[in-house]
Amino acid sequence: MRECLLAPAQPGQRSEDEARGPALIHSRHGALAARPGETLLDTLERHGQRVEFQCRSGYCGACRTPLLAGRVHYPEPPLAFVPPGQCLPCCCHPQGNVSLDLAHGTEPSS
Ligand code: FES
Repeated sequence: MRECLLAPAQPGQRSEDEARGPALIHSRHGALAARPGETLLDTLERHGQRVEFQCRSGYCGACRTPLLAGRVHYPEPPLAFVPPGQCLPCCCHPQGNVSLDLAHGTEPSS
């Protein structure tokens, strides 16, 4: 299921996600805290995860990753196909905690 939330927050209004604190991205490498406004790919890279990508804009599908639990949203609908149960980390943001299967093309960077 692809979820796209396009309604902007009102000035001074905290989103439900912000009120709950930073979203956690769970993987076999542990739980990684996301910063507000970061894409999943940004968070993974900031925590030293090596992630496959090319366009970083939802066009190529190279970053496609299984989304095991949780929800993400795409500020702009991606052009690449996103099958149910997967996400494009380069262009989506977590909505609360998510769990990713990083066994597909990602490893901690050394
Ligand atoms: S890197 Fe191209 S869709 Fe994510």
